[in-house]
Amino acid sequence: MTHLLTRLRHDVDLEAGRLPAYLFSDPDVYERELQAIFARCWQCVGHTSEVPEPGDYVTRYLGTDPIIVVRSEDGAVRVFLNVCRHRGMRICRSDLGNAAHFRCPYHGWTYRNDGQLTGVPYQQLAYGDTLDRDTIQLRQARVTEYAGLIFATWDDTACPLDDYLGDARWYLDFYVRRAEMEVMGPPHRWEIRSNWKIPAENFASDAYHTGHLHASISRLGLVPSARFAESGYHVHAGNGHGVGLGLPSDENVFEPGMLAEFERRLSREQFDVLRQIKNMHCTIFPNLSFLISSARLGGKLISHTNMKVWLPKGPNHMEVLSWGLVEKAAPADWKERSAQHYVLTFGPSGIFDQDDSETWIDITRNAATPAARELEFYYVQGLGRQRAVEFVGPGEVYASKYSENNARQFYRRWLQLMANAD
Ligand code: FES
Ligand SMILES: [Fe+2]
Repeated sequence: MTHLLTRLRHDVDLEAGRLPAYLFSDPDVYERELQAIFARCWQCVGHTSEVPEPGDYVTRYLGTDPIIVVRSEDGAVRVFLNVCRHRGMRICRSDLGNAAHFRCPYHGWTYRNDGQLTGVPYQQLAYGDTLDRDTIQLRQARVTEYAGLIFATWDDTACPLDDYLGDARWYLDFYVRRAEMEVMGPPHRWEIRSNWKIPAENFASDAYHTGHLHASISRLGLVPSARFAESGYHVHAGNGHGVGLGLPSDENVFEPGMLAEFERRLSREQFDVLRQIKNMHCTIFPNLSFLISSARLGGKLISHTNMKVWLPKGPNHMEVLSWGLVEKAAPADWKERSAQHYVLTFGPSGIFDQDDSETWIDITRNAATPAARELEFYYVQGLGRQRAVEFVGPGEVYASKYSENNARQFYRRWLQLMANAD
């Protein structure tokens, strides 16, 4: 491990804007990430609108650990390791549902939806007086909500979520606090043979690829030109959280009837910025990304809000969870068109997602081949550039969509955590 850290400290040179290719394929790097990042950072495991009633649950992963996210009878959302205390079987194997209790399929130990063991088959016969059910619970993660997002961590010593998010909250509000939001349904889920950091970095930092990789969207007439998203800001909001704002827009891209609610719920500065937005991408470190994207469909302007989690499944493998979010009070017609826009662009078969996935798979594959893995990549875009002072939002702001500062800051935070994990 010391050897790995020495190598990383030497090869990851963020002052010079250089990263080694093997970061995206090396099994030792990946194993270290599971301990140093995914066992410690706050991670989003869902949205409260997925579990509105007592007993509602979804099964997910926190890092690579299977979990149950459940609203217990007392109304609190809890996150449990989905692993039986008897022999380690996964106790709940459905994606979602409503349950007062979870019964393990192996020997039938039964847990209440607050994690307490309440039932043990043939207890007297099998155990006599040697088993005290009251002392046995499912392992529970720390949970905190922010504007409907459910965050969890295994780390009892992690800082409070508010500190973890810091200035990123100002920007996160645009996606999840501008109105009461709800999920369009359960997340789309699919697997990609990609390292998880590639999309996380892309959503934090990479507006540069849009004009080229996604040029087909302008040829299809969804946006006026491939250079549609060129003006705006990049913001490092602290702790590796990166945001890109595409603005100004000539038109309001949101549902007009919702603007009064946005104005009520956001600060004046936030509302002024929100009204000018064309699109907006971000990554909350390590693996939660968001997007607001707009286009003209059938001659009518529409936008959607997309939330994605990049789940690590191996050095060259991840699972994507992707939710459409929409204002709960929006008219049915807007909700339907917004869902169509999401599916057409950033759903599993979306035009953008097809372009992106193909690229991420290729990069991951190359990062493991003998010659290419030794390469250094150039993360120098925007190095030495002056920070913008005119923008009202917090963080380290640059008045350009072409900047790799957010990527450099993402890996700075990554390296800090990788080095401090012991
Ligand atoms: S493993 Fe769950 S009851 Fe035995
Ligand atoms: Fe993309």
